[in-house]
Amino acid sequence: MERASGLPAIKSSGLSVALAPEHYTGREQALVKHHFLKHYLERLIHKIASKYGEVVYVDGFSGPWKNQSEQFEDTSFGIALQALTDAKRSWAGIAHNPRQVKMTAHLVEKSPHAYARLAELQAMFPEVEIHTHKGDFTEIAPAIARCIPSQAFSFILIDPKGFSLDLQALKPLIGRPRCEVVFNFMFDFVNRFALFEDDKVAPVLDKLIPTEDWRNQLRALEQNPAATPEMRKRAIVEAFECAVSKVAGYKYVADVDVKRPDRDRTLYFLVYGTRQPPGIEVFRDCQIKSLGVQADIIGRKKVEKLAEKSSQLELLGSMQEMAPDPNAVFLIDEMEKARHLLLDIVPTSGTGRAWGDIWTHVLANHVIRLTELNRIANDLRKSGHLLFPSWPPSPKRVPKDEFPVLLGTVTPSVSEPVP
Ligand SMILES: C[S@@+](CC[C@H](N)C(=O)[O-])C[C@H]1O[C@@H](n2cnc3c(N)ncnc32)[C@H](O)[C@@H]1O
Repeated sequence: MERASGLPAIKSSGLSVALAPEHYTGREQALVKHHFLKHYLERLIHKIASKYGEVVYVDGFSGPWKNQSEQFEDTSFGIALQALTDAKRSWAGIAHNPRQVKMTAHLVEKSPHAYARLAELQAMFPEVEIHTHKGDFTEIAPAIARCIPSQAFSFILIDPKGFSLDLQALKPLIGRPRCEVVFNFMFDFVNRFALFEDDKVAPVLDKLIPTEDWRNQLRALEQNPAATPEMRKRAIVEAFECAVSKVAGYKYVADVDVKRPDRDRTLYFLVYGTRQPPGIEVFRDCQIKSLGVQADIIGRKKVEKLAEKSSQLELLGSMQEMAPDPNAVFLIDEMEKARHLLLDIVPTSGTGRAWGDIWTHVLANHVIRLTELNRIANDLRKSGHLLFPSWPPSPKRVPKDEFPVLLGTVTPSVSEPVP
C-alpha cells in the first residue's frame, strides 16, 4: 500500500498501530530509528512483563523534537508509552491468570519549551506512572537510578543530538543489573572529529569513548593502504561498543547502521547493550525488519532523485527493482559470515559446547535471525559437518540450548555455499 508521501506503509505487528510515514518527511532516518524502537519495545516489554513486577522506561533526551503528530506517535517516548500501556493491558486481561505489572517512565529534557509539552502525557497515558525531569541527563541520571527499585527491569534510551556524552557518569543507570540500553551513536560527527587534537573536541570524545587506544587503532588503519572506509567505520563504532560493554558490563553489544536517506552513507548507529540471550535474539529480528524499511526508503529516494532529471519515472522505477539490493547483499554476506563463525567456534573434540552458548556468540557478531542460524545448524548436522550427540532421531529441526555441539567428521570447505 502506498501513502501520500510515497513511502511504504509499515506493517504493524499484532494489534499495534503502524507508524505513519507522512510524519517523517525530510527526516526519514528517524522513521528507521522509530521502526526499530517500536518493534523492539513491543516485544521486549511484553516479554519482560511476564517475569518482572515493574518495567521502567528511561528516555534521557526525550524531546519532543521535530514531531509532526500532536499525539506524539512519532516520538520515542510516545512509542514507548504506548508499548508500556499495551503490555500492561494485555497481561491484566489474561482470563485465568491476570498479572498486574507496574509501568513507569522517566523522561528527561533540557529545553524548557520541549519540556513543557511533556506535561500533556500523563492524561494521555494514565496507566503509566510518568516522571518528567527538566535539565541535563548526565546530571539527573544517578538520581533516576536511585529511585528505580532493584527488582524492576529498566530500558534506557540515550538519543542526544550530538556526541557530548559522559559514559562513565551514566554508569549508575546503565550499569544496573536488570537493564538494557540503546544509544544513538552519532557516527557522522565522531568520524569527522575522531583524530582532531583540538583541546575543545578531544576531551569530549574522551568522555564518549573512555577506553584507551582506540585512536591509535584508527591511526594504524590510516597508515594501512589496504584499509577501507568500512574498516574505519567498524573500528569507530566498535570502540564505542567496547566502551559501553566495559563501563556498563553488557555481555552482548550490537548495532543498527542508520543511513542518510538520500545517500548510502551512515548517519548514526543505534548501539544496543543487553545481558540476556533473548535480548540479542529479538534485537536481530527487529534490526532486520528495520533494515528492510531503510532499504525501501533509500531505493525510493534514489528513484525520486533520478526522476527529477528524467520524465521516465516508470522506467526508472523498474530499473531500481532490477538493480541488486545492497541490503539483501549485506544480509546474504552476514549469513555466510555467521556460518563460518559457527564452524570456527564449535570445538573439534571433547564433549562439545552448548548450542545456547554458540548461537548467542554468533548473533552477537552477525546480523542473522536465530531461526536462520537454527536452519543452518540443522543443515550442517544433516550433511555431517556438525555433530549434535543429544539431538534425538526425530524430525525436530530446532536444536535445544542445552544440546552440546562439536565438529563432525566431514571437513567444511571455505568455498562451500550456505547449505
Ligand atoms: C535527538 S532529540 C531526541 C529525539 C527523541 N529521542 C525521539 O526519537 O523522538 C534530542 C533532545 O535532547 C534534548 N537535549 C539536548 N541536550 C540535553 C541534555 N543535556 N539533557 C537532556 N536533554 C537534552 C534536546 O532539546 C532534544 O529535544
